[in-house]
Amino acid sequence: MNDLLTAVYPGSFDPPTEGHINIIERGLKVFDKLIVVVAVNSAKKTIFTIEERIDLLKKIFKKNSRLEIDSFEDTLLVNYVRSKRAQVILRGLRTVKDYEYEFQMALANKQLAPELETVFMMTESRYSHISSSLIKEILELGGSGAGMVPQIVEKTVEKILEEKRKK
Ligand code: COA
Repeated sequence: MNDLLTAVYPGSFDPPTEGHINIIERGLKVFDKLIVVVAVNSAKKTIFTIEERIDLLKKIFKKNSRLEIDSFEDTLLVNYVRSKRAQVILRGLRTVKDYEYEFQMALANKQLAPELETVFMMTESRYSHISSSLIKEILELGGSGAGMVPQIVEKTVEKILEEKRKK
């Protein structure tokens, strides 16, 4: 085990939203080190490649020795967390709707790796209605993502949607 309290914050981040950013900023206040990791949710079809999502996260956050941005594929989250010698999996909870899914994942991860803890942070109410899919839909239909995603994310999503439309 690592002496530093290290948490891994996994997600699809397709794209990262202000809600994710809020959890990352608050996570940095609680943990010595935070590893934000772009992971694969096999149930989701994404518009960004893993590299593009990492690039967006790196553009959003200034260099910080306590914050690492990474990705993994083709293995379980718990294997990745162990390989980083982290102790905690950090997840955000928006509403009770998230609860059942998160409960199932946390219990499965606990069974697979009993030494790891999942810690939940309540998403601030101003972000609790946001999701990456909702933002993609709003931007696709010409709405504004202000207050939901940083400008760099809005511009990149619009560019990708524009390219898709041309095909
Ligand atoms: N504010 C706003 N929105 C938030 C949020 C917050 N604080 N936290 C989550 N969300 C939204 C996201 O935008 C996303 O929206 P979408 O469904 O429209 O894409 C949704 O809530 C949840 O996505 P996210 O937190 O990005 O991750 P996920 O649920 O897609 O990630 C993994 C799941 C990747 C962690 C999980 O599949 C995994 O661990 N995969 C690795 C393989 C593995 O170990 N599998 C077994 C797991 S038991």
